[in-house]
Amino acid sequence: MCGIVGYTGKKQAAPILLDGLRRLEYRGYDSAGLAVRAGNSLTEVVKATGKLYHLADKTDQGRSLPGTCGIGHTRWATHGDPSLINAHPHVSGNCSGSGKVESDVVGVHNGIIENYGELKEKLLRHGYQFYSDTDTEVVVKLVDYYYKKYRIGPVDAITRTMVRVRGSYALALMFKDYPEEIFAARKDSPLIIGTAENAVYLASDVPAILKYTRSVYYIGNLQVARLSPGCAKFFDLNGDEVALPVTEITWDAEAAEKGGYEHFMLKEIHEQPAAVRDTLNSLIKEGRIDLTAAGITDEIIRSLSQIVITACGSAWHVGMAAQYVIEDMVEIPVRVELASEFRYRSMPLNENTLVIVISQSGETADSLAALRLAKERGAITLAVVNVVGSTIAREADHVLYTLAGPEIAVATTKAYSAQLAALDAFAVQMALVKGTVSREQYGHMIEELLGIPDKIGRVLEDKERLQWFSSKIANAHDIFFIGRGLDYAISLEGSLKMKEISYIHSEAYAAGELKHGTISLIEKNTLVIGVLTQSRMIEKTIANMAECKSRGAYLMGITTNGNFAVEDSVNFTVYIPKTDEHFVSSLAVVPLQLLGYYTSVNRGLDVDKPRNLAKSVTVE
Ligand code: F6R
Repeated sequence: MCGIVGYTGKKQAAPILLDGLRRLEYRGYDSAGLAVRAGNSLTEVVKATGKLYHLADKTDQGRSLPGTCGIGHTRWATHGDPSLINAHPHVSGNCSGSGKVESDVVGVHNGIIENYGELKEKLLRHGYQFYSDTDTEVVVKLVDYYYKKYRIGPVDAITRTMVRVRGSYALALMFKDYPEEIFAARKDSPLIIGTAENAVYLASDVPAILKYTRSVYYIGNLQVARLSPGCAKFFDLNGDEVALPVTEITWDAEAAEKGGYEHFMLKEIHEQPAAVRDTLNSLIKEGRIDLTAAGITDEIIRSLSQIVITACGSAWHVGMAAQYVIEDMVEIPVRVELASEFRYRSMPLNENTLVIVISQSGETADSLAALRLAKERGAITLAVVNVVGSTIAREADHVLYTLAGPEIAVATTKAYSAQLAALDAFAVQMALVKGTVSREQYGHMIEELLGIPDKIGRVLEDKERLQWFSSKIANAHDIFFIGRGLDYAISLEGSLKMKEISYIHSEAYAAGELKHGTISLIEKNTLVIGVLTQSRMIEKTIANMAECKSRGAYLMGITTNGNFAVEDSVNFTVYIPKTDEHFVSSLAVVPLQLLGYYTSVNRGLDVDKPRNLAKSVTVE
């Protein structure tokens, strides 16, 4: 959701900024802009609506913009429509569009300033004029206001602004009096700084700068950064300098490239065996599950009387699957709550409650808010997060990292699978400690878990059949995904994968629920996809599918090898390898991901960047 980049060094900035913005495209955007400056000359601002190539064309791929210091932005509209005037950068002076600007402050912003209305009125009273509908223009002008009023340096002007604004933000600013420098600040929105010899990079996410450096600083909440070629200094809200540790990024730079695949999503689907294997290998040592890296001791597990899982979107679907697994294995109450609803529930949380927050990005605003509330109410918190150093990872009491590597496609696949594997391993360990499985069962479950990556590989080998089938359903209007128990949790994810990238309306239903209303929507050729992996529920779900068939539905079933009776009841069957039924979601989800992917491709859509969506949702 909005992407920020910055560069100050010895090279021409604009091509580097454009390259960084390209790598942040997955975050979602509708317009883009650059501000670049050569030494003491005026800053030049260029903006374009629509895809990034419009901005690249306007600037001859950045070559027509001289200067070695600059900031860039991709905007995902929140305040004001996606237009040239609302595109960033915004300036403190009287200018709204592209060109050389006299302004003292030029800036870009990611996040939402909640009190921008009242701040705008204040600034209007002080003679500022506004050209856009954005909250960003208000922040840039507020910084300018304090900068001039108190004749203080940029860091102090920014900290005064931070004290005054409410909301979330990552800001990158350039000041006319400080050539070759960029100032940055953040609260609850991601922003990282990369350093290299004679250069500093700034970005919303690691893939934007991975090509140039692996040494990264994570600016803390309510901290300010002052960046000049080769030098990054950090300050707290009092303006006092603070020392931050450098983190070395271990991701392979190629991991953030398409590597020969047509889309990131397809590449990431194929990376699932590795993502799951790496995640499991980090938790399973010498035949035992070891959660000590996450700080989860046997003592903590023994103390738990309930578990609450909270997350958004697909991560919430992982929570739904984990709920069935943990309840069944550990016999402990598990509740799953959408993070955006968490605060509206009066849940009894205490020191015997473990609140698990699942998030790929570690920056999802609703999940972060739920985490903070859970901590406030005295629960123990565990974050299951993919992005190292992200806000949720830093704020949770305990962190269990998934090792999926960078996920670029907006629709999650490998991070989902890695989260699922991590929580399955967590459930098995809890079951052992709580004494609900024997040592022998524990050993067997670990073996089954370790077999999952190869089995995902086998599901992927069958992808041509799904490609063929998706060409048949590309014109569907409605698709229903049904299942019972764990199969229902998988249906939820299958349905989301389908609708978010193919724009075909789809719904997931607990199979037994269809007859309570939804079955009236079934008509001739409506596709109903049944997930049929839980042996004690297969017959019942098949019966529900038959009810749909007799009303004209076309049926597809996903089931495990050996359940050949399914083939007699449905029109198209997909088989997945057998495994312990607790862990089958990791396999059953793969054909559903492929189905969504190929349907989107067949419909000629932008698979990796579906309309209106952002990879990292940093607003509530
Ligand atoms: C769907 C998808 C989203 C995310 C959700 C949470 O394919 O990717 O539903 O799962 O926005 O994001 P994270 O996991 O970053 O908190």
